[in-house]
Amino acid sequence: MSAEVLITRPLPAPGASLLEAAGFRVQMNTHDRPITDTELRAGVASADALLCMLTDRIDAELLDAAPNLRVIANYAVGFDNINVAEARRRGIEVTTTPDVLTEATADLTWALMLGAARQLGAGERMVRAGQWQGWAPDQLLGQPVAGRVLGIIGMGAIGQAVARRAHGFGMAVRYFNRRRVDPTIETALGAQFLPLDELLATSDFVSLHAPRNEQSHRIIDAAALARMKSTAVLINTGRGALIDEAALVVALREGRIAAAGLDVFEREPELAEGLIELDNVVLAPHLGSASTEARASMVRLCSENIIEVLGGRPALTPAPQPS
Ligand code: GLV
Ligand code: GLV
Repeated sequence: MSAEVLITRPLPAPGASLLEAAGFRVQMNTHDRPITDTELRAGVASADALLCMLTDRIDAELLDAAPNLRVIANYAVGFDNINVAEARRRGIEVTTTPDVLTEATADLTWALMLGAARQLGAGERMVRAGQWQGWAPDQLLGQPVAGRVLGIIGMGAIGQAVARRAHGFGMAVRYFNRRRVDPTIETALGAQFLPLDELLATSDFVSLHAPRNEQSHRIIDAAALARMKSTAVLINTGRGALIDEAALVVALREGRIAAAGLDVFEREPELAEGLIELDNVVLAPHLGSASTEARASMVRLCSENIIEVLGGRPALTPAPQPS
């Protein structure tokens, strides 16, 4: 009998077509909402492969209910929703979607940087509410972007793509990463490595691109926010848990930093208390990779990873081993 693939949510084009063309039986959750734990558990009971979302929690208990599973293809570059060690201990490969969403996520990061710096959200709300009385000399004054200092935390592929764009704005690029990146990359990006505290104290924009793990958990907490400039803008397109959201609400409310642009939140779709009342934060609904091109490439890469692993070949893009 042909192998069975469970897809936990309807996918954009090319959908399940590659997997079907490869001869697999595809089981797709057809509801436009995250699959429930019960549905997921029932679905994996007979599945050889799982194509899942970052909203699906794949833990040891779920893996216990998936005796035939050989590959989990996460439709995301982050994989903090999956217990990778438990999966690999059971001989199940875990794959992610690196590279194909790098440019889309870097673009969205810049949308948030510009939007937050120039109070675009507050301006949009004013116009839509019918409260705009016309141009005014002191209306919604924001922070300059061009020529400022950009501090990147997490200099992987997405951090580097954000850094490349900074050259067009004549910005000085600094970064913090657990390990310094290759000097040739530093030179190409004109990026200077700094200790975290120094980066926070000297950056006009701080943008988060680290994966979520124990080291990055709440890397921006009250103490980190206190080190930042009062004119600084904080951007997060990584994972919500990189920020102590309650501390950020206080910092934004009290003007300890100027603004923030957030695409990710610790308990999506819930927002930290008080966040929504603040005018100096731009809120996006986890759109980092949401371009038609990136999402189509993610579908293809997930499908190809499944085809490779079920065919007895190595995965194209296995989740990196924790280091
Ligand atoms: C999105 O957040 C991803 O990890 O791909
Ligand atoms: C930024 O857009 C803000 O809402 O202040």
